[in-house]
Amino acid sequence: MKNEKSVGIIGLGYYVPEKILTNQDMEKIVETSDEWIFERTGIRQRHVADAEMATSDLATRAAQKALADAGVTAEEIDLIIVATATPDMVFPSTSCLVQANLKATNAAAFDLLAGCSGFVYGSIVATQFIKAGFYKKILVIGAETLSRIMDWTDRATCVLFGDGAGAAVFAETEPGFGILGADMGADGTGGDLLKQPAGGTRMPATPETITNRLHFIHMNGNEVFKFAVKVMGESALKSLAEAGIAPEEVDLLIPHQANIRIIQSAAKRLKLPLEKVFINIHNYANTSSASIPIALTEAVESGRIKKGDNVVLVGFGAGLTWASCVLKWYKEETHIAKQ
Ligand code: UT7
Repeated sequence: MKNEKSVGIIGLGYYVPEKILTNQDMEKIVETSDEWIFERTGIRQRHVADAEMATSDLATRAAQKALADAGVTAEEIDLIIVATATPDMVFPSTSCLVQANLKATNAAAFDLLAGCSGFVYGSIVATQFIKAGFYKKILVIGAETLSRIMDWTDRATCVLFGDGAGAAVFAETEPGFGILGADMGADGTGGDLLKQPAGGTRMPATPETITNRLHFIHMNGNEVFKFAVKVMGESALKSLAEAGIAPEEVDLLIPHQANIRIIQSAAKRLKLPLEKVFINIHNYANTSSASIPIALTEAVESGRIKKGDNVVLVGFGAGLTWASCVLKWYKEETHIAKQ
């Protein structure tokens, strides 16, 4: 990623649906308890979209806030990347729906599927386009309506996820700021550990696939947990090495919010005290590709990040995939609209 142009985030925004399901609400749906969910995951509640809302609606609202924060019009956007595993439909892409909603008439648009690593994958892709001089301003959005593909009878998965969207505008920044290091990777041999088996060309929708609940999330939680603990620390260290920044110089770690115990072990691996780790899983549960941009936006909004800070984003997810990047924070002021 060595190049003369510096590329970073110039605007942020997020949107979560208003409806909240607490752990007590989940106790009425499956055999579970607030105690089990909170102790094993750190989750207290999740936001769930109403029936008329889909991923492009959440993505559009987050994007509008990010554009306003950046002071950029929709027509100035050259490319929209929507990272999602829960598109409105298989095609057209959710990014094209968002492009239409925003009236971003000059933007190309594509979806990116890298599970919960999707926003960081998208951020790295956007950075390359701008460094190469191909595009100037790119919207990267992580957006999910996971409640639609959750098996509400499976307590091992349905308590873990939530809906939401987070967006960032990428552009050239002052030299020395923005993304200084990045790492992304995949291990497709672990694809079976986290998947939505039916609905694609391998297993098209049939009455049997529906009866067998194959259009929902299927996950081997323990194996994904082990994988996450390994790759989060490793990937963050690789990005930091590329950036020439020591772990002790990190001001804030923004990890994918999947499980508080995974976050704690990543912090331990990086020898970071928990004060330097942003955690909001209690409020949103796991929003997959939206979790990192929602957390980043909240961190900036709440004054946890200031200009010049070293911020690390790191995620892992279905694929299996992982990705991280190191940002020297660029923006002095924020104008992020409240929810
Ligand atoms: O973004 C990437 C997506 N995925 C992840 O990041 C998930 C990573 N994995 C995890 O976060 C954890 O593995 C889980 C939270 C999914 C599970 O936690 P665990 O500590 O590994 O629990 P477990 O799967 O080993 O289950 C322990 C027990 C089992 O009962 P028995 O067999 O010991 O009697 C489960 O049946 O907990 C039971 N259990 C529950 N009990 C109450 C599983 N889910 C629940 C539940 N409420 N919701």
